[in-house]
Amino acid sequence: MPIALTLSDSPVAVADQAAELLIDAVAAKPDLVLGLPTGSTVLALYRRLVRAYRGGRVSFRQVTCVNVDEYVGLGPDHPQSYATYMRETLFRHVDAGPDRVHGPHGAAPDPVQEAARYERLIESLGGFDLLLLGLGVNGHIAFNEPGSSPDSSTRVVELAPATLRANSRFFAGSSGQPTKAITIGIATILRARRIVVLATGVTKAKAVQAMLSGGPMSVWPAAALADHPDVRLLLDRAAAGER
Ligand code: GLP
Repeated sequence: MPIALTLSDSPVAVADQAAELLIDAVAAKPDLVLGLPTGSTVLALYRRLVRAYRGGRVSFRQVTCVNVDEYVGLGPDHPQSYATYMRETLFRHVDAGPDRVHGPHGAAPDPVQEAARYERLIESLGGFDLLLLGLGVNGHIAFNEPGSSPDSSTRVVELAPATLRANSRFFAGSSGQPTKAITIGIATILRARRIVVLATGVTKAKAVQAMLSGGPMSVWPAAALADHPDVRLLLDRAAAGER
């Protein structure tokens, strides 16, 4: 099954599309198991979901929210942890139940064990009904960097130089910027029943092109999504390589 495309004129339109898709998915299955990414691309989507919640269009009360990755070494109170990102951009503004909100514990004493626990947790939830993903400039999905195996499960990874560069803007200088993360694996991703990827801006054009034209997956991890039966890519004209 080829990756389905929704091409929009702007990042704003991509966020609108994604928000409507998500609101519909929760309406169809209020107890959705929902995989969520962080990053700049999805900020506009999360703002729309907060607005939709305030307008009574969506409730997260029964939704299980499962974050896809976290920096190793950053606890939930660290300002740059993905736990903080999710709390501040989405969870504290909607009716998400604290016991239905999950993310890998970045400050766990044994990150390897924590990754294994997280994989088991996802399994015990029955896997993702809907998994939302962003796209790294190097084609990473969650934090599955180039070289990730299609069989990989949730694990500790070394971040690629391109990722460290792209995300250094969030850390003052490079000191304190984590070089490792816990991420759900490619196999974990491919077990999701439905996957939606968001990509906006010219910096993603190469990764989008590779994802749609067969990778190779060893160089562009997002190309692994071609093996999944239900993937939709929401993208704007810049990410599609149009000028
Ligand atoms: C980050 C996250 C990914 C995210 C991607 C895109 O590093 N680990 O889950 O999808 O990179 O980020 P952005 O939207 O900021 O380009």
